[in-house]
Amino acid sequence: MSDHLTVVKHPLVQHKLSLMRDRDTSTASFRRLLREISLLLAYEITRGLDMTTRRIETPLEPMDAPVLEGKKLALISILRAGNGLLDGILELVPAARVGFVGLYRDPETLRPVQYYCKVPDALESRMTIVVDPMLATGNSSVAAIDLLKEKGAANIRFLCLLASPEGVARMKEAHPDVPVVTAALDSHLNDHGYIVPGLGDAGDRMFGTK
Ligand code: URA
Repeated sequence: MSDHLTVVKHPLVQHKLSLMRDRDTSTASFRRLLREISLLLAYEITRGLDMTTRRIETPLEPMDAPVLEGKKLALISILRAGNGLLDGILELVPAARVGFVGLYRDPETLRPVQYYCKVPDALESRMTIVVDPMLATGNSSVAAIDLLKEKGAANIRFLCLLASPEGVARMKEAHPDVPVVTAALDSHLNDHGYIVPGLGDAGDRMFGTK
């Protein structure tokens, strides 16, 4: 595990991920597991948030109690599958600001093209967590982070459920300053850009589409 990549090996994360990989897991269970796993991954990715203290009074005496410092987090979901990770993280960090980036792949150039972007203000002074369950080729993640940097984001982290070695390498090359947190690093990408062994199409599995 490098500084750039953290694989969360917690037994609950690994158990839930195995259930999600199983092709026989229903849409309802897949969604519930994704929400649960995203809480555990959010715990990991928010490690190292800046802290300060606030003077409070407990029923016994005053104390300088640790609290989060600075502007609220920005959570950026890459549409559409990112929304599945977003819901769980918002349960843990309900005051976070939320943005969405929509990208599609141009069939001719195969490059990601932006069709939607709405993000919180003052990204330069927020920790910005970009969420997308599958870091496959890395093209859309890299493009989304390019866009966020253009808008001023400087402290960015990337959260996914599964990563491919190809996607991790692409992210490291394009954005070496962006740490990646994932539940597993899988074997490889197949010819269709799917992560192997993977879990299939994350968006289809969470929304029940084909
Ligand atoms: N997107 C998915 O949903 N699954 C993959 O395996 C790769 C990209």
